[in-house]
Amino acid sequence: MARKATRRKVRYDGIDAVDLFCGGGGLTCGLRQTGIDVRMGVDYDERCQYAYEHNNHARFLHKSVTDVTAQEVSGNFRQRRVSLLAGCAPCQTFSKYNQKATWRDKRWLLLDQFTRLVNETQPQLVTMENVPKLEDQKVFSRFTDALHDLGYHVCHQVVECPKYGLPQLRQRVVLIASIFGDIKVPPPPENVHVQTVREIIGDLPELNAGECDPDDRLHFCAALSPLNMRRIQASRQGGTWRDWPKRLVAECHRRDTGKTYGGVYGRMSWDKPAPTMTTQFYGFGNGRFGHPEQDRAISIREGAMFQGFPRDYQFVPEGEHANISLLGKMIGNAVPVQLGKLIGATFIAHLKQLDLLRENVDGQ
Ligand SMILES: C[S@@+](CC[C@H](N)C(=O)[O-])C[C@H]1O[C@@H](n2cnc3c(N)ncnc32)[C@H](O)[C@@H]1O
Repeated sequence: MARKATRRKVRYDGIDAVDLFCGGGGLTCGLRQTGIDVRMGVDYDERCQYAYEHNNHARFLHKSVTDVTAQEVSGNFRQRRVSLLAGCAPCQTFSKYNQKATWRDKRWLLLDQFTRLVNETQPQLVTMENVPKLEDQKVFSRFTDALHDLGYHVCHQVVECPKYGLPQLRQRVVLIASIFGDIKVPPPPENVHVQTVREIIGDLPELNAGECDPDDRLHFCAALSPLNMRRIQASRQGGTWRDWPKRLVAECHRRDTGKTYGGVYGRMSWDKPAPTMTTQFYGFGNGRFGHPEQDRAISIREGAMFQGFPRDYQFVPEGEHANISLLGKMIGNAVPVQLGKLIGATFIAHLKQLDLLRENVDGQ
């Protein structure tokens, strides 16, 4: 009598990942916190290498994603482990702050490069994060169509960060895809505790404008001109330039056309989440980036902590000049670490639900 063949269930030892457009490592750091082994990040800006490698123990490939080969990616995916290709292509093109974006901007095509690498390496899991406006673009439907054609189950959703407890009013579109089966971005947890500005930076040493903490060279903030010093002194928590006496209000804001720009020269509130960290969060005039109490804009360390980077995350090598605009870019452009953690935990829960992971792999 013929014996019935029993197929042995495959269980994987964990997840290996590659992070395209890795920057200083926000997404990588969050994925790693869930136990995913991000083995390599790719970025064409070599100034990100130190932060990426020093904090994440992953290799940095200094290259344009356009020139990355399938072998360079798939060489990181080990046997008996699930493969994940992650990436967050530059989002300035689609950002609501960029009114000048046109379809001619070549950066849009970088998402096609992500598609090419998915096609050529066929990872079992894929994730991508970007600004919500990307969902309306053709390049995004090309990406999702390609994933469907390759057999992936795809879910994309706009995530409002505070609803997931993140201390920042950021909104991002998160895409997750799996070759194994249906996958969903989890709904926001009920009764979530939203972290406030006070909880994140309330115990950092006080600084004057332009000062640096002697014990942490990244806890430094920009100097203020005498006029901006008088302005911040006239600002209240949660307020903007509208609260100032008229003599302090900038000429452009006095005009009718300028009155709509309420979102600049603001102070944060201690008991609310922070505003979205942009690449210029260190400038008082660039948004609602005034410290709730001290007369200064937030420091580089404070911006990094709102983005979820651990307190001791290092961005520049010891002894090297810490350039404020470079750091603003690296930190403001990052995927918040907790969002990376949410994505990682979602993948692990998905694999566990399908009984595809060995017992000892965690997801927290
Ligand atoms: C939105 S940031 C990514 C942030 C990163 N995922 C994080 O969480 O920290 C986009 C990154 O893409 C990089 N980039 C832009 N064009 C690139 C290209 N052609 N090849 C590789 N990296 C590129 C930029 O240098 C920047 O670091």
